[in-house]
Amino acid sequence: MAEPAVRVGLVGLGTIGTGVVRIFQEGRERIAERLGFPLELTVIADIDLETDRGVSLAEYATTRNWRELVDDPEIDLVVELVGGTGVARSIVLAALDSGKGVVTANKALLAQHGEEIFALAASKRAEIAFEGSVGGTIPVLRALREGLCADRIDSILGIVNGTCNYILTEMEERGESYEACVKRAQDLGYAEADPTFDVDGTDSAHKLSILLALAFGVRVGPDQFGVEGVERIEPVDVEYARRIGLRIKLLAVGKRGDQGIEAHVHPTMIPETSVLARVDGPMNAVEVQGLHSGPTLYYGAGAGSLPTGSAVVGDLMELARARRLGAALRVPPLGTPALREVTLARPEDLETEYYLRVAALDSPGVLSEITGALGEFGISIATVLQEERRAERAVPVVITTHTARQGSLDAAIRDIEQLAEVTRPVQVIRIERGI
Ligand code: HSE
Repeated sequence: MAEPAVRVGLVGLGTIGTGVVRIFQEGRERIAERLGFPLELTVIADIDLETDRGVSLAEYATTRNWRELVDDPEIDLVVELVGGTGVARSIVLAALDSGKGVVTANKALLAQHGEEIFALAASKRAEIAFEGSVGGTIPVLRALREGLCADRIDSILGIVNGTCNYILTEMEERGESYEACVKRAQDLGYAEADPTFDVDGTDSAHKLSILLALAFGVRVGPDQFGVEGVERIEPVDVEYARRIGLRIKLLAVGKRGDQGIEAHVHPTMIPETSVLARVDGPMNAVEVQGLHSGPTLYYGAGAGSLPTGSAVVGDLMELARARRLGAALRVPPLGTPALREVTLARPEDLETEYYLRVAALDSPGVLSEITGALGEFGISIATVLQEERRAERAVPVVITTHTARQGSLDAAIRDIEQLAEVTRPVQVIRIERGI
């Protein structure tokens, strides 16, 4: 007799949901062959069942009410792909509460409500998987949870927002304004419906929060560390970086340091020869440094219907195996039974090199006032570049520093911005050379 199927209900027919449907239709036989039993998508819930998404829904039961799907005793696994943290939270909690396995790609939901969701999953002994939430198709969470589980992770450096990486790459290659690049990212469908969370660093912070849990076994919310996006980056910064052999990337960083675990999301200048500097366009990459494993790199499409859909269906297969073969919770979803609370290193104590671009009126003595303010706080200058004045009187003074404490740098910048000749806020970008 043929093996009975494990049955899946999908909530949310957006970009990723549509990709999941396509993969089920294209890969039905391959998936069944690899599992040794069929995995069937049987019910789809979405408030909009009219829009033509280019896939046939004829073979599925459909409903506008997600509760019908979650309450259906025939459904074993629920996929939440509605996004956001409102209805999505209700769906995930209700599905776990009824003992179903849950797959989601919702980083905001996990970063903000992870504690509640993982506690419920544990108490119900229900599985939850979320590979698509970080780095789209890239199996980096699985690598941290399983492949590297014996190792002490010392750092993770991630380019985890394709929209920002696309914008920075375009600025560099076309020299276009930030606004023009954002518009193109939206037209190409890389950005979220509201790109604010992409460009202001929030999306990367959500993903970093999940990476920190898996890499270090710690519970750190996205509001507990410094987050900055790419909105302030101008083509001129990209150009100056290039002149000194650096490229700007929005990096999500988690590191074991002398001051404790350090976490932040910032635009960062990194050597153009580093592997991460070569991650271009909407691609994502995460570099993990382990005590014994050394560096490992995970690279791939960080967004998109089929790439992220592939990660989601992979998670469904893992959960289906666990159910069918009786090995549920073989590996805890976060790689450890419980996360530790942790106090992160204080941002003001962190040390790095900096790039500063000061828009200053070109009057005698201004350069010495700027460098004097840095000297006052013990900040050592590595290079200074001042272009010749052209039409306008404010000329950029570009300074790179040796390693400096963030607290001292912030204090010096406050003083520099008080100078009468300084016409705009100082552009400050970190430089990380050890990448
Ligand atoms: N909008 C996200 C990005 C994709 O640009 O990377 C999914 O997380």
